[in-house]
Amino acid sequence: MQVAILGTGYVGLTTGACLAFLGHKVACVDADLKKIGSLQRGEMPFFEPHMIELIADAGQNLTFTADYAKAIPGAQVIFIAVGTPPGANGGPDLRYLESAARGIGDNLGSHFTVIVNKSTVPIGSGNWVDSLVRDAFQRRNGNSPGGSFAVASNPEFLREGSALHDSLYPDRVVIGADEPQTAEVLYTLYRPILEQSFTAPTYLPRPEETEAVPLISTDLASAELIKYAANAFLSLKISYINEVGQLAEKVGADIMQVAKGMGLDARIGTRFLQAGIGWGGSCFGKDTAALVATASEYGLKMPIVEAAREVNRRQRGRVVDKLLGELKILKGRSIGLLGLAFKPNTDDLRDAPALEVAHRLVERGAKVKAHDPVAMERFRLENPASEVICCETVEEVASGADALVLVTEWPQYRELDWEDLARCMRSAILVDGRHALDRTRLRRAGFRYIGLAG
Ligand code: UGA
Repeated sequence: MQVAILGTGYVGLTTGACLAFLGHKVACVDADLKKIGSLQRGEMPFFEPHMIELIADAGQNLTFTADYAKAIPGAQVIFIAVGTPPGANGGPDLRYLESAARGIGDNLGSHFTVIVNKSTVPIGSGNWVDSLVRDAFQRRNGNSPGGSFAVASNPEFLREGSALHDSLYPDRVVIGADEPQTAEVLYTLYRPILEQSFTAPTYLPRPEETEAVPLISTDLASAELIKYAANAFLSLKISYINEVGQLAEKVGADIMQVAKGMGLDARIGTRFLQAGIGWGGSCFGKDTAALVATASEYGLKMPIVEAAREVNRRQRGRVVDKLLGELKILKGRSIGLLGLAFKPNTDDLRDAPALEVAHRLVERGAKVKAHDPVAMERFRLENPASEVICCETVEEVASGADALVLVTEWPQYRELDWEDLARCMRSAILVDGRHALDRTRLRRAGFRYIGLAG
């Protein structure tokens, strides 16, 4: 099928690369000429494992352009995957969505086209996009025939860092459409994924247990709500284990054992029960805020979601509390942060806990050094005035430090030479913000190990 994808962020580029790899003809469109130029040269705008290989394997099926007129008229399916950054009043800023919808209406071809909302948009956006496209089409073409289209919602559930894996082997595909013809077009588009009939790339092998992927076909509003409800549930699962973690510390329980013992109950599940500094990134904070804002438009409160947000806010402060508890005074201390990205395998720094921890420490007069395997370049670019000193090695971060804090659980941090690091620190204190390190090994290496939940 001919596909156009508007927006080359995580969602747009991942969707484009996967669909092109599966054999569709995909044009990725972005208004940012510089970005399009880099993509045409094979340079990635962000770090995502295996993206370069998948794009190379997609070959001629994947093209990049800044010109709507080149991509839209021939497309049978158009994905809107533009950014919806946080706006005022808790809701997202829909400027890019609006301009994408108008651009589609201005360039729509004469055949039936399915327009898919892939960006996380407020509930009811399907209808809004429909009217924007229709208005733009009529302004340009008057009442001439053509411009037959339908809007669908196809929310994305990919996680940064494993975006391609999550897209090729999803737990489910959700399609929200008000007419059967629309859902059928998307069914055809996704058939290789739904039936798992494609040959898996060697670098992204199909998980052994993968079978046919369930398709959830719904009306528009339900699909839109599924996305928010899922993200909010995952956020509150993490906040719940972090709240239990505070009590675990008081009563002398081990939060990791508690999470395991709870999670093995199939009704609860082990995933997203990793206690630590809490969630960051561009999705959970924005989507929980948007859900609360939407509910309030209908006179509803969502106290559970609000509590999840509050617990998450508190969690970041706990790192500083732990350091204060150990060092008493932070002024003049040297604190080393291991990890800047909001999670491993990405260079994304949006709402990254490390940034807030660094800010609080600097505010209290501490000197902050940091290391991250991939996110330091982006950190320097996005925070040119930051007082945080980026170090090329963990040894540099540890040298003369009063304490280290593990903020992002990059796998390579598990394998550090902890004896060596302990020797070069002023005091060998480690706050494990993710409960990711082997505390026995750390203690043997001479560290005072402190978990966020004891
Ligand atoms: C999240 C969802 O997991 C995706 O399904 C969704 O598509 C995406 O948002 C989105 O809406 O675009 P993402 O934010 O990329 O994906 O990453 P996650 O793996 O969900 O991690 C989010 C945050 O939660 C990270 O800071 C991570 O460190 C933290 N986390 C995750 C925990 O603190 N504990 C856990 O057990 C799991």
